[in-house]
Order: sequence, then structure tokens, then C-alpha cells
Amino acid sequence: MTTHPNFATRLLTWFDTQGRKHLPWQGSNDPYPIWLSEIMLQQTQVSTVIPYYQRFIQRFPQLPDLAAAPIDEVLHHWAGLGYYARAHHLHRCALQVRDHYQGEFPVEDLEALKALPGIGPSTAAAVQAFTTGKRAVILDGNVKRVMARHAAIHGWPGQTQVNKQLWQAADHRTPHQRVANYTQAIMDLGALVCTRSRPQCDVCPVATDCQANRQQLTDQLPSPRPKKNRPIRLSHCLLLHTADEHYLLLQRPSPGIWAGLWTLPEQETKTQLQHWHSQVLPDHQLTLHEGQKLSHAFTHFEWQAQLWLASLPCRHTELGEMTKPDWLWYNPKQAPKLGLPAPIQRLFMLSHHGQAPLTLDEENP
Ligand code: ADE
Repeated sequence: MTTHPNFATRLLTWFDTQGRKHLPWQGSNDPYPIWLSEIMLQQTQVSTVIPYYQRFIQRFPQLPDLAAAPIDEVLHHWAGLGYYARAHHLHRCALQVRDHYQGEFPVEDLEALKALPGIGPSTAAAVQAFTTGKRAVILDGNVKRVMARHAAIHGWPGQTQVNKQLWQAADHRTPHQRVANYTQAIMDLGALVCTRSRPQCDVCPVATDCQANRQQLTDQLPSPRPKKNRPIRLSHCLLLHTADEHYLLLQRPSPGIWAGLWTLPEQETKTQLQHWHSQVLPDHQLTLHEGQKLSHAFTHFEWQAQLWLASLPCRHTELGEMTKPDWLWYNPKQAPKLGLPAPIQRLFMLSHHGQAPLTLDEENP
């Protein structure tokens, strides 16, 4: 077995002066803020997470507050962070901890942590290390990059064999002392020094025995995912507004993309969209006017949507009788507490700042 006796020592010395020790969720070993921040930090940078974390913890200061909240409100506080499955899992996890563990995270038991919704092997280890100081091995995206470079592990980390080597490399470098500090240190090194592009090897505490640095491979490791063109998924969305400036939103079914969030009525073709509104709004003839295009990159496909604008001559309150449980008349000026996917949120925000009118202008009624 390869050991790296100095790796942790050098990293910890670096951490003492350069590491992050004053993030809003640091300073105690309370599992709730630690767990919450780790879930938010999955695939998301610290600077993005901080304001979300602060609003979240203000609204849900303790685990029971989160467990008792309706999922809609949780999604509202999550909206914009992306990867919404995390918010659903977060809520389910809070319920399980409340109901199966008397409100106390099972931080001594790695397997029990991993069995909770949204907690994978690396998050479980991070939560355990930060709350108990027990030796636990983490391997998030940043750490994978450090390991792939320091040990010169070739191949895309999404491959099982490569992933296994990365875990081994991470295990061999994890110390038995100061594990909580080491865990933060290795994440910080990945985020601040061993960055994806232009790593700062000149200030890296483990550069001297870094195989990628020695072989000038830092720009090739970790190996990228094999190229596969992201397919484009086209759709047609209806931006239907009432005389009193309310827009029709529908709640997305769960499970699925944007589960539980509120979006525009959407169909694959314009014809299907026309068919849809003639079915659900049989008393109203709508004229569709071509609007702007929206796009959003998902992990597995690119979403491109053509907007179709239409108006109803009445106020939204006059439509009460046809409103269904997953329907909502939304007024962007008095935004209620609900989750909107990022591109929809952007659409309403831009229109609010007068950059992209949503309503029909006079020349294009
Ligand atoms: N990414 C995941 N967890 C993190 C943490 N605790 N600090 C910084 N980046 C992280």
C-alpha cells in the first residue's frame, strides 16, 4: 500500500494559514448546519451557497422547523440553486431524522448516514468528520481533482475503476489526527489552489510529490467525460396573462425534472400547445404571438423553449371556477413564496426590469 506520510501534515500546515475557518456553517459540531451546508455545497460553489444558506437557516433554524415545513416552502428557499432533487431529499431526510432518530443525526454510524436521503458516501463522511472528528474519507468533485492529479490517475472519474482508484488515493492520504481540519483542508485546496483551470501549483503545499505537476499533466487530469453531444429538447411554452397581469403557472409532477416547481404550460409542438389550451380553456379563443426563446442546460440535455404569448380579457379572479389544484395565477410584482425554475425566474425578473416585455406591445397586439 502506498502511504503518503507527509501529505496530511503539509496540507494541515497550509490550512492553518490559508484554509477557510469562518464560513457561516462552521464553528460548532452541530450536525444540522453542517449537513445542510454539505447538501447545498454538492455541485455548488461556496460563494453561491452562502446567501441561500443564510436565508434557509433564518427560516428553518433547527431540524424540526425544516421537517415541519411544507415542501413548497422548502423549494421556494431552494429556487435558483438548481438540482432540485437535493431539496426534496433534504426535506425527506429531515423527516426521517425526526421520526426515526428522535431528531438526532446518527453521526457515529457512517452506514446509517449513507442510508438517509441525499447523503452519499462523501457527504456522509464529511458530516461524520465535521461533527465527531472520527476518521472518515471524503471524495467530492474537488477532492477527485486533487487525487487524480497528485497520484496521476488517468481516466474519467465517472468510470467505476477510476473512481475506485480515486477512493484509494483519498484513503491513503487521510490522517488519523485532526480529521475535521483535514477534511476542510482538502476541499479548500481543491477549490482554491488545485482549480480546474490554471491551478496555482507554485503555492500548493503538496506540489513537490504531485505526479501531474512533475509530468506537466495538470491540464489533462482529471480526464474529461468522453464527449457525447447533449441532445436538444425543444418545447413550446405558453405565457398566458390576464387583464390584471397574472400569469398561468402549472406545478410540475413529482418525480421528474423540476418536480414540485411552478412552470409555464409546456408542450412539444405549437399544435399540441394549441390543442392543450382549447381543451383546458374551451371558453376562450386564444391568439398566440411568437415570443422570445428560453434555454437551459440540464446534465443530459439542452432545453430550448419557444414562448407563445397570449392574453385573456378578464381578471384572474374571474377564472376561479376553472382553476385546478396544480394551477396558479402568478403576479410577478407580488411574488408569492413558491419555487420557480431558474429560467422562468429569469424571465419574470427581466420583464420586471423592463428588459424583455412579456406582454404584447401595441404594434403586436
Ligand atoms: N464543498 C463541500 N463541502 C465543503 C465545505 N465544507 N467547504 C468548502 N467547500 C465544500
